[in-house]
Amino acid sequence: MAAALNVTTEQFLAGNDLLAWRRRQLRRGGRSVDLDWLLDLGGGVSWSELQRLLIDSQGRIKIDQSLEELEKLWLLHLERSMPLQYLVGVCPWRDLLIEVSSAALIPRQETELLVDLALSFAGGRPPRSWADLGTGSGAIAVSLCRAWPEAEGHAVDLSVDALALAEKNLKALAPQQSCRLHHGSWWLPLQAFWGQLEIVVSNPPYIPSPLLGELDPVVREHEPHVALVAGEDGLEAIRSLLMDAPRALAPGGVLFLEHHHDQSENVQDLMRAAGLVNVSSANDLQGIARFAQGQRALTSAL
Ligand SMILES: C[S@@+](CC[C@H](N)C(=O)[O-])C[C@H]1O[C@@H](n2cnc3c(N)ncnc32)[C@H](O)[C@@H]1O
Repeated sequence: MAAALNVTTEQFLAGNDLLAWRRRQLRRGGRSVDLDWLLDLGGGVSWSELQRLLIDSQGRIKIDQSLEELEKLWLLHLERSMPLQYLVGVCPWRDLLIEVSSAALIPRQETELLVDLALSFAGGRPPRSWADLGTGSGAIAVSLCRAWPEAEGHAVDLSVDALALAEKNLKALAPQQSCRLHHGSWWLPLQAFWGQLEIVVSNPPYIPSPLLGELDPVVREHEPHVALVAGEDGLEAIRSLLMDAPRALAPGGVLFLEHHHDQSENVQDLMRAAGLVNVSSANDLQGIARFAQGQRALTSAL
């Protein structure tokens, strides 16, 4: 794996030269939207600056990386299907720039809605205690820390490398807030807090293993499979996570789960079978049911 970009060499280029370079790269292949993303996040040439240049290519433009360096990354992306986010080392997500590496899944846009669901459930009353199960890069945990600075947060992952990345992101993006990191499987490392967790979110692995071969090589060959795949039907992680949910949540506490596009009914059934109540689903921006929520009853005899 190539190292993420870290050398910044600010320089000025003739606009025409940058556009000629861009045309050359696009002739090699790939999508202009991805190359422009690389110019923005890797080279510091924003989308709006680029649009201005496309209308009027005269003048000079500031760039933070040499074109040779950016070209190397573009070739790694084209020839080895390496995700641009891993190559540049960051991914914009919500209002944040999350550090990413092959240790963890690149946070996806739809997962931003999981945070929105948790925030709107809380309304103006932040929980005392919350958790992010399968935190990966820590993107969700950072957002919740920033939204609920007084609350006690917990971020759990089975992968030590992902937890190290989450720790970096929490230190950089939520330095004042309290979020403890826990190594282990789902609720197990949180046993000391069972019965107190008021809002819990999780984006667990949910791709059915037979579909692994159909994933884009950018995903299949570079993102950790422990973050993607969950058994034959993709529900293994969710089944295992739901086993302890009714005991680990606080009475009245809520669990929000992200799942695959065709798992809504199954996940809601699994939530009910586990003993959660007020089970419902929510859609992603395309109108597809991608999230399920369920609560521990206020008076449950468990
Ligand atoms: C789909 S990724 C989500 C990462 C991050 N929350 C996000 O939304 O970008 C699933 C995460 O769950 C973690 N994971 C897989 N099995 C786990 C388990 N049994 N217990 C805790 N975490 C687990 C993976 O290491 C991975 O970081």
